Amino acid sequence: MTDNLRFDGRVVIVTGAGGGLGRSHALAFGARGASVVVNDLGGSHTGEGASTRAADVVVEEIRAGGGKAVANYDSVVDGEKIVETAMKAFGRVDIIINNAGILRDVSFTRMTDQQWELIFQVHVDGAYKVLKAAWPIFRKQKFGRIINTTSAAGLYGNFGQANYSAAKLALVGLTQTLALEGKKDNIHCNVIAPMAASRMTETVLPPDMLASLKPEMVTPLVQYLCHEDTTENGSTFEVGAGFVGKLRWERTGGHGFPIDKTLFPEQVREQWAKITDFEDGRATHPTSTAESMESIMANFENVATDEAARPKVISADGKV
Ligand code: NAI
Repeated sequence: MTDNLRFDGRVVIVTGAGGGLGRSHALAFGARGASVVVNDLGGSHTGEGASTRAADVVVEEIRAGGGKAVANYDSVVDGEKIVETAMKAFGRVDIIINNAGILRDVSFTRMTDQQWELIFQVHVDGAYKVLKAAWPIFRKQKFGRIINTTSAAGLYGNFGQANYSAAKLALVGLTQTLALEGKKDNIHCNVIAPMAASRMTETVLPPDMLASLKPEMVTPLVQYLCHEDTTENGSTFEVGAGFVGKLRWERTGGHGFPIDKTLFPEQVREQWAKITDFEDGRATHPTSTAESMESIMANFENVATDEAARPKVISADGKV
C-alpha cells in the first residue's frame, strides 16, 4: 500500500475513549501521527460512577507506542472542557469523534423521565457541547472532520430502547445539518452505525459473534472519513466485522391526488398499493430537503380535469 493515510500535526478528540470503540479509534489515530485527547468519564455502561483510570490506561498505551496523548475525565455534557484540554495541550483541534455513550434499556411502558433524559444528555447534548465548542475553531482554520456515532437501534428502532433510538437518530439529523453548514469551511461531518464487541454488547450478543466483531474493524472507516483528502460529507455508514456500507433514503414514486379536489381517506386506501410500492421502477433517493420537496411541488400542477378523478365519497364524514 502506498500513500498511507497519516494524521501528523492533527489533533483528535475521541470521547468515551477509555474502552471499546473509542479506545480503538484513539490508539489508531495515535499510531498514525495525531495528538489525541483521550476523553472518558470512566463510569459504568449505564453511566454510574466515574474514574480516571479508563482514560489514563489508553493514554499510556498511545505513549508506549511512541504517540502523543493526554487524558480528559470530564463528561461530554461539559464538552467545552474537553476542547479546552486539547487547546491547552496541543494548541488546536482538527478532528472530533463523538463516541461516548451509555444505555438505559427498558420498555417504553416502564421508562422514567430520568431514563429518557439521561440518554439524551449523554448522546445528544454531549455531542452538541463538544461540537459547539470546537465549531469556531474549525471555521477559523478552515478545517474540521467530525464523526458522530449512531446505532442500528436509531436507524431501525429496537425493542426496549426508545430513549437510545430517539437520541441516536437525533445524531443523524445533527450530522446532516452540520455537513451542510460546515461545507464551505472544509468542515465535514459523517455518522457511523457500528457493530462491535464491547462491554455494551457483551451481555446481549453470543460469544462466537463477539469474537468476530472487533472494534479495530470499525476504526479504519473512521480514519478514512477524517483524513484531509476525504471529501465524503453528510453520509451515514453501517460498519462492523469488516463490512462497510453506505445508507440512503428511498421514497416510492407514490401517488399524486388532484390538488383542487377535497382529499378523502378512502382515496388514500384506494391508492395504498401504489403509495407503498418500491418495486415499480419509480422509487427515488432524495438527498436534500429541496429534492424531498420536488414531488410535492410537482403535484401543484395536478388539477383534476375529468369527472372520473373526482372522489366517490362526497363528505368528510365518510358518507357517500
Ligand atoms: P463502551 O461502553 O465500551 O464505551 C463507551 C465509553 O463512553 C465508555 O468508556 C464510557 O466510560 C464512556 N462514557 C460514557 N458516558 C460518558 C460521558 N458522559 N462522558 C464521557 N465518556 C463517557 O461502548 P462501545 O460499544 O464502545 O460504544 C461506543 C459508541 O458506539 C456508543 O456511542 C454506542 O452507543 C455506539 N454503538 C456501539 C455499538 C456496538 O456494537 N458496540 C452499536 C451501536 C452503537
